[in-house]
Amino acid sequence: MTALTRQVPPKPSVSPPSNLARITNYQDLVKIEECVRYYPPNLEPVSNGVEIFSAIGESRDREIDLFVDVPYCGTICGFCPFNVYRYKEEEALRYIDSLEKEIRAIRSLNDLTRTRVRTVWVGGGTPTRLSIASMNRLLELLDTNFDLRTVVEFTMEIKPTQSDLVEEKFDLFRQYGVTRISMGVQSTEQKQLEILGRGHTAKDALEVVDKIMGAGFPLNIDMMYRLPGQKHKEVEQDLENVRSLGIDHMSWFPYVPHQGTRLASRISNQQVAKPADREQYFAMFETVLERLSLAGYDQYTPYHFAKSRRCDYHVDRWKMPQLETLGLGPGAFSFFNGNIYTNEHDPAKYAKMVNENVPPVVLAKKLTQTERTSRLAVLGVKFFGLELSKFETLTGEIFTNYYKKETDLLTRAGLVELKADCLECTIAGRAFNNDVATAFATDVARRTKHPQALDLMRR
Ligand SMILES: C[S@@+](CC[C@H](N)C(=O)[O-])C[C@H]1O[C@@H](n2cnc3c(N)ncnc32)[C@H](O)[C@@H]1O
Ligand code: SF4
Repeated sequence: MTALTRQVPPKPSVSPPSNLARITNYQDLVKIEECVRYYPPNLEPVSNGVEIFSAIGESRDREIDLFVDVPYCGTICGFCPFNVYRYKEEEALRYIDSLEKEIRAIRSLNDLTRTRVRTVWVGGGTPTRLSIASMNRLLELLDTNFDLRTVVEFTMEIKPTQSDLVEEKFDLFRQYGVTRISMGVQSTEQKQLEILGRGHTAKDALEVVDKIMGAGFPLNIDMMYRLPGQKHKEVEQDLENVRSLGIDHMSWFPYVPHQGTRLASRISNQQVAKPADREQYFAMFETVLERLSLAGYDQYTPYHFAKSRRCDYHVDRWKMPQLETLGLGPGAFSFFNGNIYTNEHDPAKYAKMVNENVPPVVLAKKLTQTERTSRLAVLGVKFFGLELSKFETLTGEIFTNYYKKETDLLTRAGLVELKADCLECTIAGRAFNNDVATAFATDVARRTKHPQALDLMRR
């Protein structure tokens, strides 16, 4: 089917599900967003991660996704909830030393010889803010310490800051097997970029798109909608501006104001307008889906649209059964050896831990049987269709019995439909996917705030 004849998805049979309109304020939305991304959220303090790694013994053969967090950016955007710090050369150099020590600490407990990496994601943060020498060291560290022979995808995250994107860095990407670049564009409207505090123009972003495509790297761009005060027609304009660029993969995130960020404070102080409400958001979501579908993009998660190739990193980490992820760097998240855990966020404290040759883990949770079962569904439903027989094979539970109450509720709300071997999300279920996902979370997880949000509030 060519791009132009591709069918537009049918209109949803319901408007935004009013009986699930229980998200009354932004904080609820943020809590849910985080809960479903890093399920389960009820992690507990630990003094180090020795047990997580030593429990593996000499390990079985395993395939993992590898995430490397580079927590530095040239400027910190007003909307950003991630663990990021203003770039300083000396700190970045210390960070690379610490990263090496973190890898050494893990490998002293398990040499990882039977662990093969399937995908790599170097992000954060803005890794391309690193100097050429530091980028070289980072990529060399990964290359010498992990089995990357069977990597199917290697993504490097960048920001469209022209001065950071020198040709030597692209040469390093080629040398170390980077296969794909992911770049935040966010908006093509200058007024919005200023509200977001991006520190680059739309022209910069479009020039860098050309540069990357000219260098031959498949590209993902991150776009945001439901921005403060943004009107429906402005989302249409953004879609118009990017859909014909020939980019293979796009991510479209509805903006969520995170407490502790500059932009969220400006919204609460009424210095900038609020983002769209649920109903307006739903109309925007439909437009994004419709326009991108017409342009030949297939939506495969609430945020991700692919023309020819889905992102393996997203598929691996979310699709049932989820692959393990080993996260490195300050604040990185991991799902490893039956545990969910997070590294120390503060680069100085992280450095102190790795100097003592211990994995820098501060919060962790060994998943219970119930959480393992829930995690399959909470994350798996991001792919809009849960294979019921696969769920049964993986858990021994019949989905429609195990989640009978939830399936009935979500069906009545017009968010899901039961079809043969599949629990399928409707268009409303795609747009309000977090509502669907949280229905499958265990009670304790629903009540627990995610540590990343807590961390931000302490700042
Ligand atoms: C890890 S960030 C980093 C990307 C890169 N450093 C950049 O900004 O160009 C990945 C993406 O998450 C999205 N994002 C960040 N904060 C968000 C928020 N508060 N609400 C919705 N999406 C957000 C943005 O589109 C961003 O590009
Ligand atoms: S959005 Fe990207 S560039 Fe902006 S502060 Fe966050 S990680 Fe850094």
